[in-house]
Amino acid sequence: MYSATEKALITSIWEKVTPHTEQWGGEALERLFAVFPQTKIYFKHIDTSPGSAAIRTHGDKVMKAIGSTAGDLDNMSTTLSSLSNLHAYNLMVDPVNFKLLSHCILVVLANHLPSEFTPEAHLAFDKFLASVAAILSQKYR
Ligand code: HEM
Repeated sequence: MYSATEKALITSIWEKVTPHTEQWGGEALERLFAVFPQTKIYFKHIDTSPGSAAIRTHGDKVMKAIGSTAGDLDNMSTTLSSLSNLHAYNLMVDPVNFKLLSHCILVVLANHLPSEFTPEAHLAFDKFLASVAAILSQKYR
């Protein structure tokens, strides 16, 4: 559950992300593959080299999926249900990787939004991404 303050922080950060989902999503994935290269194993069919168009395209999808839940925080499980199935049953992504991607997304947000990404906003957004990760991993159990 989110407090009204947390909801407001998440929504206002997300409004700033919306025009940049492709670029910032691409940057988050670029960081993921550079800092945690073991994650590239899931993307053997995609060009994971820095600057690749495929990374940006995929980053856009990931960010938009996160955005689809940011405005409706009380219904995240429903919104993310099919993605949860995909990651668990089809892609079989080890849940530990969601934490790594969340970390990279937070770093990208802090880079682009230095004044908005206060410690309070960081905390709220970390909680939000942890919920996304928990939902995407819940079908493993
Ligand atoms: C595909 C979202 C984390 C691996 C996707 C798609 C979305 C998505 C929207 C595209 C689904 C479609 O085309 O129908 C997310 C979100 C994540 C997350 C919101 C967490 C915040 C991860 C992680 C990994 C991963 C941590 C592995 C390290 C993949 C792979 C695909 C995929 C391999 C298929 C790519 C392709 O073949 O095009 N994800 N994802 N995802 N995801 Fe994730």
